[in-house]
Amino acid sequence: MIVLGIETSCDETAASVVGPSGVLCDVVHTQEVHVAYGGVVPELAGRAHADKIVTTVQAALDRAGVKRPDAVVATQGPGLICAVLVGCSFGKAAAAGWGVPFVGVNHLEGHLLSATIEPDGPAFPFLSLVVSGGHTTLYLARGLGDYEIVAQTVDDAAGEAYDKVARMIGLGYPGGPLVDALAGKGDPTAVALPRPQPRPGPPKTPTGRQSRPLDMSFSGLKTAVRSALVKDPSIKPEDMAASFQAAVVDVLTDRVRRAAEQTGIQRIAVAGGVAANSHLRARMMDLGLECFLPPKSRCTDNAAMIAHAGRLRLLAGQRDSLSVGARAQWVPGTP
Ligand code: KG4
Ligand code: ZN
Repeated sequence: MIVLGIETSCDETAASVVGPSGVLCDVVHTQEVHVAYGGVVPELAGRAHADKIVTTVQAALDRAGVKRPDAVVATQGPGLICAVLVGCSFGKAAAAGWGVPFVGVNHLEGHLLSATIEPDGPAFPFLSLVVSGGHTTLYLARGLGDYEIVAQTVDDAAGEAYDKVARMIGLGYPGGPLVDALAGKGDPTAVALPRPQPRPGPPKTPTGRQSRPLDMSFSGLKTAVRSALVKDPSIKPEDMAASFQAAVVDVLTDRVRRAAEQTGIQRIAVAGGVAANSHLRARMMDLGLECFLPPKSRCTDNAAMIAHAGRLRLLAGQRDSLSVGARAQWVPGTP
């Protein structure tokens, strides 16, 4: 089954064709309009997707040498609603025009299954750490659509913290890759920063939700960076980048190690934009677990992961009605 996948949940307009032999092509266009604003402007993202969607999908079909796929899948959410709307509507229209099935895919499910695109990817059950600009969640994936949240951030996502700290030390947007590169030149022990420990009890999160014992927090770390810079403006940006990165990676790897101990599951996949981080990748490989790291291009937003997740659903006999709509919020594995 040859599947066309479309992704437009944030600031990447992406299309990919995936078949039985794997990914036939993976076209990603990153919007540059947001750089001037230091973050993604939803309305501009929606308009830029509308400008690029036809040429991006056509480029993917041409590169794959496919005229009419057997099915179309598109990100249905979660994401910026005016961005998701473009790819989801286009995908449904294309499926209707070709007379082929349509599946709406959860963007986070795309990330959490992305390591399984590779022929030597993890078999179920496995742990999957999805670390992106909007989410930081550790899932236990028991099977297709059967996901349990083992831990997640109670406030900022790790990628969001990267982007905010980048701005504090005078770097551009998106900050993650820039902090990653600069951190390599700094001293990770130069600035003492907190590593929030798992909480013994069941306290509430700031939003009133019951937290899990392994939940994480990155908001205090971001504040600690700001306070340290106010107290000592002479801290070198590379030392702050390295110290911040060491703290983030310590927290993420600590939760993965504890989750593996608690669940007895030794297979761990890492996904999402922050999974492209060089220090996180190196530390994950050192945990003594069976670690699956997608190539960096498959960590940041792409349509191959969407096409792949949708294809697995199609092969399991699932189809969506063309009346499904774009969703801003959607927990993977829930209806
Ligand atoms: O998965 P993604 O492309 O989009 C979302 O779904 O959010 O993740 C984007 C996030 C941004 O916050 C970006 O700064 C971060 O991933 N990121 C990185 C790196 N590359 C991208 N963070 C740390 N190190 C990197 N190398
Ligand atoms: Zn993403």
